[in-house]
Amino acid sequence: MGGTYRLAAIPGDGVGPEVVEAARRVLEAAGNAFGFGVEWIEVVAGGAGIDAYGAAIRAEDVEAAGAADAILLGAVGGPRWDDPNARVRPEQALFALRGGLELFANLRPVTVHPALIPSSPLRPELLAGVDLLIVRELTSGLYFGRPSEERVTSDGRVAVDTLWYTEAEIRRVVRLAFELAQGRRGKLTSVDKANVLATSRLWRKVVDELRGEYPSVVVGHQLVDSCAMLLVKQPAAFDVLVTENLFGDILSDEAAVLAGSLGMLPSASLGERRTAHGRFGLYEPIHGSAPDIAGRDVANPLGTILSTAMLLRWSLGLEAAAHAVEAAVGAALDDGFRTRDLVPAGATSADLDGLRHVGTRAMADAVIERISIRRAAATSVAAGPA
Ligand code: IPM
Ligand code: MG
Repeated sequence: MGGTYRLAAIPGDGVGPEVVEAARRVLEAAGNAFGFGVEWIEVVAGGAGIDAYGAAIRAEDVEAAGAADAILLGAVGGPRWDDPNARVRPEQALFALRGGLELFANLRPVTVHPALIPSSPLRPELLAGVDLLIVRELTSGLYFGRPSEERVTSDGRVAVDTLWYTEAEIRRVVRLAFELAQGRRGKLTSVDKANVLATSRLWRKVVDELRGEYPSVVVGHQLVDSCAMLLVKQPAAFDVLVTENLFGDILSDEAAVLAGSLGMLPSASLGERRTAHGRFGLYEPIHGSAPDIAGRDVANPLGTILSTAMLLRWSLGLEAAAHAVEAAVGAALDDGFRTRDLVPAGATSADLDGLRHVGTRAMADAVIERISIRRAAATSVAAGPA
């Protein structure tokens, strides 16, 4: 391998800086083990951007981040910037990046590590075999539709948000979902609210128009309300789900309960743009800034660390390194390392036997140690007996 890659780090707010720092150390360890280097540019954004520049993110920083090979982001937001009347909000940084860089497809894989089955409030038999991928449309829908504002009218205050989708916006994300389903178990569930919404009926038509091009994929339509129920009732029945922006936001937090904690889930946001190494993308955990636990070295870094594995795979084409990071996370969990969000609620001391309660940094250390060990083992096997 041996290349050097240019990555943008956007730590953001709350626990963002801690989990990004942890993930950067893991990437560095993967680089040492697999022989590649990373050059970082750092971007101040979110509430931190508002404090520094009066804007959630500056246009030149969106451009600089967009010129890197990929972006690693922590989280943005917090009570300090939560004034409902504020004109600038930390979340605008996300929308400037997602929209500005046309990262229209947000991939949120949900798997259940066997060691974390007790960490989920769901019954263990429901969790066996859960391996699903939510593909969330990320640059349109209610998040981007205009008008979106509050007005004072003769009826008092009125607020409006606009739900808008063009067929091209639907087609490109649904197409990617079909392709991903083809490479997995060949099952695609398109989630909508076609019994109520015009945008959902257009969504369904586009899905049905594309299905002929992907004969190996079995497609089903599911209304979002019943999908929310089925996600906890029979989660193992799902393979790839594709849905519009807001539904995807909600369903992915729900699906995080399967994985044992919101802190476990990674995400990749992809567009059409390709770099010399792969697909340009933005990688972030799906959890938020968790201001209540910020700065205390207790946040779970695994969602961000697993996001770097997706970065290695999708944007840098380094599949072996991606796999090594994921395997090291699995090994750390098998060896009992748990941040506090992963300790089962109401656990007895017998349940906790053999578990090692660790903070953010120590969890990253556990992963790093297991990357090096596994790499060393693989190298000595490849080299054969001396
Ligand atoms: C997510 C988050 C964001 C979203 C928030 C922070 C604006 O919940 O990435 O899922 O709604 O997209
Ligand atoms: Mg969300």
